[in-house]
Amino acid sequence: MFMKNRSFLSLVVAVVSCAFTVLCAQTSPSTMKAIVVHEFGGPEVLRYEDTPKPAPKENEMLIRVIAAGVNPVDDGLRSGHYSKYFGPKPPFTPGSDIAGVVEKTGVQITKLKVGDAVYAYLDLDRGGGYAEYALANEKEAALKPNSLTFEEAAATPIVALTAWQALIDTAKLSPGQTVLIHGGSGGVGTFAIQIAKARGAKVLATASTPNQDLLKQLGADVAIDYTKQKFEDVAKDVDVVLDCVGKDTLQRSYGVVKKGGFIVTLVASPDPVELEKHGIHGSDLSVAPNSGELAEITKLIEQKKIKVVVSNALPLTEAAKAQEQAATRHTHGKIVLKVSEASK
Ligand SMILES: NC(=O)c1ccc[n+]([C@@H]2O[C@H](COP(=O)([O-])OP(=O)(O)OC[C@H]3O[C@@H](n4cnc5c(N)ncnc54)[C@H](OP(=O)(O)O)[C@@H]3O)[C@@H](O)[C@H]2O)c1
Repeated sequence: MFMKNRSFLSLVVAVVSCAFTVLCAQTSPSTMKAIVVHEFGGPEVLRYEDTPKPAPKENEMLIRVIAAGVNPVDDGLRSGHYSKYFGPKPPFTPGSDIAGVVEKTGVQITKLKVGDAVYAYLDLDRGGGYAEYALANEKEAALKPNSLTFEEAAATPIVALTAWQALIDTAKLSPGQTVLIHGGSGGVGTFAIQIAKARGAKVLATASTPNQDLLKQLGADVAIDYTKQKFEDVAKDVDVVLDCVGKDTLQRSYGVVKKGGFIVTLVASPDPVELEKHGIHGSDLSVAPNSGELAEITKLIEQKKIKVVVSNALPLTEAAKAQEQAATRHTHGKIVLKVSEASK
């Protein structure tokens, strides 16, 4: 009898201890896995760890992240390169672009609901998207295009909004005009070519030799290989230049814009002396979240006027490798991080 009791007791102890081990191995519901930057530095400062799961305020929603986009700016935010001007201070979780499913909503969220598949350009001060969960407000998020995978959707918000705000809001590109897009094969450029075509513009775009086919597939009327020919020899008297490259490319661009035309650059400030000399207008740009514009972009995607190019999708644990690739400034389309499964 005593022996029987003892073996029963051992069985109970074994079961309890096994259950405890399994529970401890899982992430507790109040924490999540995320990439955290504790100090500015190289890619090695991106740490994959447990961190508190965020709780939405009244005007926020909690999104279960399925994929996160990686942008060139992520590298400068992590290294501290931009810290004098903008960006979060450590500790922070990087990643401004996400696609996922709304898990919880604050009382002021009225346009989106629990269970909606969404994509968003996040304010990093609230915490970024290289994480299992992220917070967004309704200015930042819109319904995900049905025709996109979560990875494609996560590749979209910042670069699509940048292209939209540069071409439509800033340069006021209109049907029949001609636009020259520098860096046409990158994140911004791939969207810019397609937004300009959807607008009814003629598009000239630059990229290196391996990306010439991509420029054409996206709809560029003229693809220019900047490694083989000077863009000034091909592009003349354009209405608008979108500069995603800067430096010498920007410097040489003033002369190809017709009088009264517009040059918008993402990476510098246009030189007022050059603008005046050529009788043209110019502006820099700082992209801002805008769910209304994201919804317009969704329409173009659903109408098959925009396709999304994802060249690499890496697991969240490989955030460092993803940022290193994005920092080369020679990304073909976009790089994304896979955070979790779409159906869970
Ligand atoms: N101001 C803002 O609000 C804002 C917003 C978004 C992005 N940005 C900035 O804008 C820049 C572009 O962003 P992104 O996401 O499109 O970058 P990206 O994905 O790295 O793309 C850069 C593209 O530029 C091309 N390129 C490099 N050198 C070139 C040259 N000399 N002539 C023509 N093309 C060249 C590359 O193509 P090849 O490989 O074929 O050379 C690459 O496809 C980045 O510096 C980013 O930080 C600014």
